[in-house]
Amino acid sequence: MLLGSGGREHALAWKLAQSPNCDTLFAAPGNPGIAEEAELVDLNIADHSAVITFCAGHDIGLVVVGPEAPLVDGLGDSLREAGIPVFGPNKQAAQLEGSKGFTKDMCAAANIPTAGYRRHDSKASATAGLDDFQAPYVIKADGLAAGKGVIIAETRAEAEAVIEDMFGGGFGDAGASVVIEEFMTGEEASFFALTDGNDVVAFGSAQDHKRVGECDTGPNTGGMGAYSPAPVLTEALQAEVMERIIKPTVAYMAAHGMPYSGVLFAGLMLTCEGPKLIEYNARFGDPECQVLMTRFTGDLASLMLAVAKGELAAADTPAFADETALTVVMAANGYPGVPQKGGAISLERVEGAKVFHAGTDERDGQLFANGGRVLNVTATGASVTEAQNAAYAAVDAIDFPTGFCRRDIGWREVKREAVHD
Ligand code: AMP
Ligand code: GLY
Repeated sequence: MLLGSGGREHALAWKLAQSPNCDTLFAAPGNPGIAEEAELVDLNIADHSAVITFCAGHDIGLVVVGPEAPLVDGLGDSLREAGIPVFGPNKQAAQLEGSKGFTKDMCAAANIPTAGYRRHDSKASATAGLDDFQAPYVIKADGLAAGKGVIIAETRAEAEAVIEDMFGGGFGDAGASVVIEEFMTGEEASFFALTDGNDVVAFGSAQDHKRVGECDTGPNTGGMGAYSPAPVLTEALQAEVMERIIKPTVAYMAAHGMPYSGVLFAGLMLTCEGPKLIEYNARFGDPECQVLMTRFTGDLASLMLAVAKGELAAADTPAFADETALTVVMAANGYPGVPQKGGAISLERVEGAKVFHAGTDERDGQLFANGGRVLNVTATGASVTEAQNAAYAAVDAIDFPTGFCRRDIGWREVKREAVHD
């Protein structure tokens, strides 16, 4: 059973359904795209006992948790206590995403490269603590803030206003504690690893596009497009990330009685001093998962079950197609502010791409927008440029008048490929 309802979960459902070892796939709450791959179940996934009752009644052999909130809320613990294998960490281990301060302290203790930092639990201490840093100031709400908890303030006055807002409740409980960090410069990339708490394997790289506007302008979003692999993360850099960041993390968590099981998603800054950890997520990225799943050639259900059961050492090494996968997010007008709901969508003319559903709904055979990020138009090619061309050809065949997308997904690599041609 797969939990979640976004484009990430549609990509997971699509791959899980292809697994020879997956006889039946349920999903809750799902979406119209996921419904093509799985039987949807009307379950409140925040209700742990309802999830356990359903699993027990349907002989569920594996639960795959897509989003972070249920993990940080301890759904992994509840399922494991009930004897149900689960892909995703327990509550304590999910602190790697749920508490930025926890992760920074872990990095300090395990000598993992990351930006210098200080934690503060009061407005007075945080304001005074700005003296330890220079502009631009990086200020982070400690807890989960739906991707909005990181503010980069250009001036001291702006930084003080951000601190005032965080301790004033502007970020809910997430802002009761803050982390102030040194500002790092470099190119960002994402790296994924699977671990069962003991063994760990690399699971690919990607680059996301967080800003809503072309040329990386405008407000931050959950991600407007991605591609995989990220050539900027060379084999040598990936090996360095595994040795200096991922493996020490897995070892630290195990040594401190909170073994991490699931996918570790490392957000990295490639600085002139080498790769440094920006943050961890306890789940796959969205839309990074869509491009990883497009390239993954293995049996996902068996691999995830091996992770869940602590048997990763005996599993096949994850294999990926050499080609590039690129996904373009189509969002509803208004996103990342209030998105326009109910706009009609037609996918009939799409060819040569896989369209994953995120915020869609279906009534009487008609597809509608029902969220901020709505569709993930995903194509492959021998280069980022080719994958980009194929993805935008499909975007142009989609009829979604109340939606928009960035037209430059992949620009960094497309520019580099043009130079090399
Ligand atoms: P996060 O939610 O932690 O990934 O942060 C969101 C974004 O803020 C990152 O993708 C970076 O672009 C930026 N960011 C976070 N921490 C730093 C830092 N210490 N230095 C520079 N940029 C940062
Ligand atoms: N696309 C960024 C994330 O999933 O956190």
